[in-house]
Amino acid sequence: MSASPTSASPPGQARSAIVTRLRDAGCVFAEDEARLLISAARTPADLAAMVDRRAAGQPLEHVIGWAEFCGLRIAVDPGVFIPRRRTEFLVRQATALARRAAGPAPAGDAGPAPAGDEGAARPRPVVILDLCCGSGAVGAALAAAVDRAELHAADIDAAAVRCARRNVAAAGGQVYQGDLYAPLPARLRGRIDILAANVPYVPTGEVGLLPPEARVHEPWVALDGGADGLEVLRRVTGAAPQWLAPGGHLLFETSEHQAPQAAETLARRGLVPRVARSRALNTTVVIGTRPSRRPRPSAAP
Ligand SMILES: C[S@@+](CC[C@H](N)C(=O)[O-])C[C@H]1O[C@@H](n2cnc3c(N)ncnc32)[C@H](O)[C@@H]1O
Repeated sequence: MSASPTSASPPGQARSAIVTRLRDAGCVFAEDEARLLISAARTPADLAAMVDRRAAGQPLEHVIGWAEFCGLRIAVDPGVFIPRRRTEFLVRQATALARRAAGPAPAGDAGPAPAGDEGAARPRPVVILDLCCGSGAVGAALAAAVDRAELHAADIDAAAVRCARRNVAAAGGQVYQGDLYAPLPARLRGRIDILAANVPYVPTGEVGLLPPEARVHEPWVALDGGADGLEVLRRVTGAAPQWLAPGGHLLFETSEHQAPQAAETLARRGLVPRVARSRALNTTVVIGTRPSRRPRPSAAP
């Protein structure tokens, strides 16, 4: 990312004073951050205020108002969970499944279907739900990667919903506010192809150990996953079979050690579990697929 000079661009000496101030405040990438702050500020007064906020410990993304995620610029308001780079792995997994669900491009569309897209052609868009959406980064990235997506997103937190509306509007998505599935329109029941739920999964007792940028500046409800970190995941999984389309997929990010228990939770609800791990991003995604057909009753002995 490069900064273009703005009316707030300070002379070289002032610029290096900003870098020093940020470095003294503990910002490891002080030069990069200074560049971003300078490019985001509209006036010198604006820039001074932004540097103050950052030096006082506010996350950079809250100060400049956006985060880069899957190559997109996602608006992030103060008090809203900042999308993490590791969550791009969940988006990659969901994108591959969504493209397979979409099937080959209809005749007349440009280009061959990507490798692995062996599903049958279908007349309707891929229905995507970004549950516990925060800024809506996951849903926005999925809609950008998938042709013909119908995007829905939901969160319990009013600030998150306001922010998500800005990010998913471009994709023609709808954002609802409420507890998990409660605010969703009934017409989505049994129709969701991709249910991406980056729920809170930090055990309650460990929230206090998170770095201050999360613990102080992100809402508790975005971090706290209950006693073992899996309480929200269990609630989402419990109702997922009613909302997923046959063959639809539910995806969660978890810690590596939570993954076996999460997979077991999915299996208990009749979903076929799979665990995907990215060493590069140091993250784990647990995927549950609703079987396309009911299993045949076993033959009587
Ligand atoms: C870890 S953040 C993830 C946000 C976003 N999906 C992302 O990856 O950037 C979890 C989000 O879940 C939301 N949340 C927590 N409990 C919820 C509930 N019961 N119903 C709906 N949303 C909830 C929080 O408000 C927060 O925005």
